[in-house]
Amino acid sequence: MKRTKVAELLQGNALGQDVLIKGWVRTKRGNKFVNFIAVNDGSTIHTVQVVADVQQFNEESLKDITTGACVAVTGMLVESQGKGQSVEIQAKTIEVLGLADVETYPLQKKGHSLEFLREIAHLRPRTNTFGAVFRIRHAMSYAVHKYFNDKGFYYVQTPIITGSDAEGAGQMFRVTTLDVANPPKTETGAVDFSQDFFGKTTNLTVSGQLEGEVAAMALGEIYTFGPTFRAENSNTTRHLAEFWMIEPEMAFYDLNDNMDLAEEFLKYLVMYALNNCKDDLQFLNDMYDKELLTRLNFVVTNSFERLEYTQAVEILKSAKQKFEFPVEWGTDLQSEHERYLVEKHFKKPVILTNYPKHIKAFYMKQNEDGKTVRAMDVLFPGIGEIIGGSQREENYEKLAARIKEMGIHEEELWWYLELRKFGTAPHAGFGLGFERLILFITGMGNIRDVIPFPRFPKSAEF
Ligand code: 4AD
Ligand code: MG
Repeated sequence: MKRTKVAELLQGNALGQDVLIKGWVRTKRGNKFVNFIAVNDGSTIHTVQVVADVQQFNEESLKDITTGACVAVTGMLVESQGKGQSVEIQAKTIEVLGLADVETYPLQKKGHSLEFLREIAHLRPRTNTFGAVFRIRHAMSYAVHKYFNDKGFYYVQTPIITGSDAEGAGQMFRVTTLDVANPPKTETGAVDFSQDFFGKTTNLTVSGQLEGEVAAMALGEIYTFGPTFRAENSNTTRHLAEFWMIEPEMAFYDLNDNMDLAEEFLKYLVMYALNNCKDDLQFLNDMYDKELLTRLNFVVTNSFERLEYTQAVEILKSAKQKFEFPVEWGTDLQSEHERYLVEKHFKKPVILTNYPKHIKAFYMKQNEDGKTVRAMDVLFPGIGEIIGGSQREENYEKLAARIKEMGIHEEELWWYLELRKFGTAPHAGFGLGFERLILFITGMGNIRDVIPFPRFPKSAEF
């Protein structure tokens, strides 16, 4: 017999027919006449109830059916008498594919803390919460590709091992083939890192943007979607050392076009989740955050507030709220400031533009005022910065001067500068932190709970 997934089974089309399901036991209850076994197979948040007549089954074999065990069940799909489910399986055969010892299987009773579950990253996908989060994560990656494909953007794979520091912030993990016990030395006796990767200094990428620009300057509209790495020692609920980023890059877009795309894209993704992840979102809404669905609906139906950094600073300076870090024109905004603007002042998503150039990356297009650059950050409730982007400096001389001014090694970026030498064009792009998006959509409180195997300072062995 062919296996039916629980999600499909619950639609009830096979009523009166024999079916085969395979999955993991969530609970077993009952009495000496009948056992009720709830089985989940990952295809949905819901379980299907298996009803086993104790007389019909060897009582010994029913003993092996414990929480966490893996089973294959055949039986007839019938209408359920019980509350909370429409169909159930009247079991004919139950095969235990894998035992789960009651004494040692950690997911026995319900209601484990998220902190505890983080310690058992290999088992937490079997909980309702993580099943829901990871199904939503899948749906969102699919929606990313669908959105861009439908718009005629090309998906470009950018390298993970790279010689350049795309953000110029020095937060890179070094990649080396050196014998660390006996490294090559320079004339001065220092370790010769230029020998890292067969004669070149290399690191894990912090962003695919620079290579994305290469592609945009030929293919027009592209996006990347891959892992990125930041060697920052941040122990926050919003930072990971390894996270996934989506970076569209578009020829002939200015900052306004860039903002329009960012807003449309975010709304599309939230809408996609609302339409396609109903049961999982309802579960998370009921379990953790009663405002979740309201918040998601709000984002798709309201326009984002757009204002300049300078205006935001004025608002923050006249705010009644006392901030831990005071704000002056020129300071980088902290998440407390971003969240004040979004959650208290405007009460909607905000796009801030035209930041001071000294707090932003070298590649951003400079404004006429000589002080600001055409940057944009999209700020979301409960999250703070979810997107960072900009129009890029397309003028060769200005870019070269800025690189020099900021003390960046020009020789690493010769190819990037050449894009401005040959057929340069106005262009823009942005980066969406995938885990921050998933945080927003699931309403989870900690970024370590929206990626299967989180990497952070002192992360567990996984
Ligand atoms: O603002 P960031 O650093 O911008 C860039 O990397 C640009 N190259 C993007 C571009 O213009 N193509 O990062 C972009 C986004 C942030 O807004 C945030 O959502 C996410 O990436 N992000 C992180 N997410 C999790 N952990 C971290 N340590 C993150 N750092 C950035
Ligand atoms: Mg940023």
